[in-house]
Amino acid sequence: QWTTASIVDESVAAIRERVGSRRAICALSGGVDSAVAGALVQRAIGDQLTCVFVDHGLLRAGERTQVERDFVAATGVNLVTVDVADRFLDALAGVTDPEEKRKIIGREFIRTFEQTARDLVEQAGEAGEQVDFLVQGTLYPDVVESGGGSGAANIKSHHNVGGLPEDLQFELVEPLRALFKDEVRRVGLELGLPETIVHRQPFPGPGLGIRIIGEVTADRLRTLRAADAIAREELTAAGLDRDIWQCPVVLLAEVRSVGVQGDGRTYGHPIVLRPVSSEDAMTADWTRLPYEVLERISTRITNEVAEVNRVTLDVTSKPPGTIEWE
Ligand code: XMP
Repeated sequence: QWTTASIVDESVAAIRERVGSRRAICALSGGVDSAVAGALVQRAIGDQLTCVFVDHGLLRAGERTQVERDFVAATGVNLVTVDVADRFLDALAGVTDPEEKRKIIGREFIRTFEQTARDLVEQAGEAGEQVDFLVQGTLYPDVVESGGGSGAANIKSHHNVGGLPEDLQFELVEPLRALFKDEVRRVGLELGLPETIVHRQPFPGPGLGIRIIGEVTADRLRTLRAADAIAREELTAAGLDRDIWQCPVVLLAEVRSVGVQGDGRTYGHPIVLRPVSSEDAMTADWTRLPYEVLERISTRITNEVAEVNRVTLDVTSKPPGTIEWE
């Protein structure tokens, strides 16, 4: 019988067999797929695995802690966090074009990961070990999509951990290649990963970098991070996390509008809430959130985030809108 437990047992045995006493590395994105792949390989080879988490400074509040504390607590994995927020901000300075942002973030991500991987390979070599494997959370739909040549127009250049240069010369370990998302979540729960990781909503690789319309700066990131944290808190408190696919929060950093607060005039930025319902992100509908929830989010953001004086709601389906604004 094909149970989740048997999928885990078989994968663990196959990974052990293949990796033997050599070493593997795994890039964690904070998302479900890389977390489950990493946890599965950890179950199989323990300390022979090192996970790498790149903090590019474009993360939401709490995401780094979730990896550093919760994922490590659940798996006992060896984790290396690389702090490269400054490097990414420098590379993004002055850039406003969405595609250019995506390319820069993807490029810097790969460079950072390559450098970290090389350092780890070198350290292992000094210890007389070999790092031969790279773990990736590729799912069955990813395999079909990349091999299938569906002819779909490339609307946005998606940034993922994949696409690493050939000269790194790792063999790939992709333990989720035969699984769909719901099976991956079940495997994650079977491995003891927390619900917050297993049922995490999608979040784009380029992070908050593509949710600031205009140049990405440290101040704008702080503003957006604060507004996003409030929206997520209220959606969770209202029990809506499983009802919506995701709810991007977007900062219109180059738009200002006049407002009034206390007895003073304000001239701040608008925030856009983009709650969507979807099955697969290919199409989406805007979610009819309860007015009380929208009201709480709006009141809290305008009270608690000084630079924001207006909260707006995106009521566009996909198509014609995409889910993300960039
Ligand atoms: P769009 O904006 O194209 O988004 O309607 C569809 C889904 O993909 C997510 N998204 C990304 N995910 N890397 C990712 O891993 C990316 O570069 C990226 N861009 C968008 C988006 O959040 C939505 O779930």
